[in-house]
Amino acid sequence: MAPPALRCHEVTKRFGEFVAVDRVSLEVAPGEIFALLGPNGAGKTTLIGCITGLARPTSGTIEVFGQDVVKDFRATRTAVGLVPQELNFDPFFTPIESLQIQSGLMGCEPDRARCERLLKTFALWDHREAYTRHLSGGMKRRLLVAKALVHQPKLLFLDEPTAGVDVELRKELWDEVRKLRDAGTTIVLTTHYLEEAEELADRIGVLHQGRLLVVEDRDAMMARGTPDQRLEDIFVDLIRAAGPRRGAEASP
Ligand SMILES: Nc1ncnc2c1ncn2[C@@H]1O[C@H](COP(=O)(O)OP(=O)(O)O)[C@@H](O)[C@H]1O
Ligand SMILES: [Mg+2]
Repeated sequence: MAPPALRCHEVTKRFGEFVAVDRVSLEVAPGEIFALLGPNGAGKTTLIGCITGLARPTSGTIEVFGQDVVKDFRATRTAVGLVPQELNFDPFFTPIESLQIQSGLMGCEPDRARCERLLKTFALWDHREAYTRHLSGGMKRRLLVAKALVHQPKLLFLDEPTAGVDVELRKELWDEVRKLRDAGTTIVLTTHYLEEAEELADRIGVLHQGRLLVVEDRDAMMARGTPDQRLEDIFVDLIRAAGPRRGAEASP
């Protein structure tokens, strides 16, 4: 049987005494769109950092397509793509240069045609020779997605890809995410726009204070509420039932 695209087993990440990710166990099947939800500070970005090799888990194991992300780092690194939460564009490069550099960093053979196709897909073609710093916020965000795809990752992490992106662009990005999935890419998405998860996700996990509260099919998650409730209401109820915000216990 094929291994899962992602398997986290009892993953913990501490910063000093602080436990940012607390014994998270999770599997994502190949071809799924998985939405990882949770309030600010829940540990989503930290968990993604552990999976993508930006941070080392304090304990627990993580496998990507059956390979350990610490021991088989080279293999897993090329299997994953990450659209980071922070816009980390290269101000002095043009979009086409950014993609070519990224492709080289990922150890791919130079493939200008592929880079050009990505620019067309993400509506950046007309700006291919512009300085990245002159692009609009939405274009920078799309360039980040294109960069994450340059080495054709099988597992793609989108960490709040639509933060600050207008409705129209958000919907365009959703279409791209669906196309990627249809082409066989497994996708893990974090988002604050719960309608995004409602719209796209096959399964949903809710992280709170570093702990995974629930993992369910989208439909099972929606069935927790009344028929007129949106995912947003269900999510807020889940978080409230789980206790106060981290750090809030100490306040008077
Ligand atoms: N490098 C770090 N050092 C110390 N604390 C950190 C570090 N990175 C994240 N944290 C803390 O870990 C918690 C989880 O952060 P993060 O993973 O960014 O949450 P999310 O992405 O769900 O908003 C937060 O309380 C954050 O302040
Ligand atoms: Mg985050």
